[in-house]
Amino acid sequence: MMNGRTRPALLGLLTFLLPMLLWAEPQTLVFSHVVSPNTPKGKMAEMFKSMIERRLGDRYEIVIHANADLMDDDEAVTAIAEGRIHFAAPSLSKFEGYTQQLKVFDLPFLFPDMDAVNRFQQSPTGQALLTSMESRGILGLGYLHNGLKQLTASRPFTRPNDLAGLRFRTMNSDVLIKQFELLNAEAVPMAFSEVYGALAEQRIQGQENTWSNIYSQAFYEHQPYMMISNHGVLDYMLITNSAFWNGLSEADRHEFRFALEMSLKYGNAVATAKSTNDKVELERMKNISVYEPSADELATWQTAMQPLWTDYEDLIGEHIIQAARQAGRP
Ligand code: LMR
Repeated sequence: MMNGRTRPALLGLLTFLLPMLLWAEPQTLVFSHVVSPNTPKGKMAEMFKSMIERRLGDRYEIVIHANADLMDDDEAVTAIAEGRIHFAAPSLSKFEGYTQQLKVFDLPFLFPDMDAVNRFQQSPTGQALLTSMESRGILGLGYLHNGLKQLTASRPFTRPNDLAGLRFRTMNSDVLIKQFELLNAEAVPMAFSEVYGALAEQRIQGQENTWSNIYSQAFYEHQPYMMISNHGVLDYMLITNSAFWNGLSEADRHEFRFALEMSLKYGNAVATAKSTNDKVELERMKNISVYEPSADELATWQTAMQPLWTDYEDLIGEHIIQAARQAGRP
């Protein structure tokens, strides 16, 4: 029986314990990526973190790992599928083990410009690709731009034959590997975090990447020759683990969607600005030569690489390639 003495003691204990019972640590959500914070993806991730923590900070904390300091992209895709991390935005070339359909983004010269890329991503076919890996635990929540890829090398080049015999780093995608094989170059698949070291030690003599990545990773220090080739696209899919996503309450999912929508828009604006600005920065550098091919010269590169469109038609799906081509002719 509670008496006059035990009641205040119990109340005191409850007053002490209640805040502890109600107060729970926010859940840590990990966003892993491989580029520097000062890139479209780095900026997008930071905005996403700050929006979520401002609105739902009592329950969620977003921890961003940049520069592959937690894991590289191949591992991040598996970690998302297995629910070990919560968000990542690997380039569209990094899903080889999970779907063949995204290889459409690796086909050289398929998209004439970023508007075409954007139109395709927003089309019903592009949107359907976001859920193409759901049965494997990976859900796409949106696309993020980086930009068109450029070719860089340690020696001068203007024609496709000039790359013969050079070792070129590629992302781990068989379309990209074959693209360099068609140029009689040697393709060396490698994680992004290893590229700078491999260039510095001359284990590779060339690579393809966006202006933003060439600049922010200082690849130019060992790649003085560049060509405005715009031959391929390097964009990202923002992915999460399907079970984690479906386990969120509807209200929280709505908040996450809103924060993602805003931060992807912001990241895309950063991508557009960086594509222009980082190119200009590189063009201004004294020891860098940025070659602008004529339309005829570019056509010879296109002819050399384009057989991949038909080689991959069955694997990717003809309707997907057609929809992408359609987006290039508005
Ligand atoms: C690369 O591996 O070159 C890119 O995917 C890096 C990135 O995330 O932009």
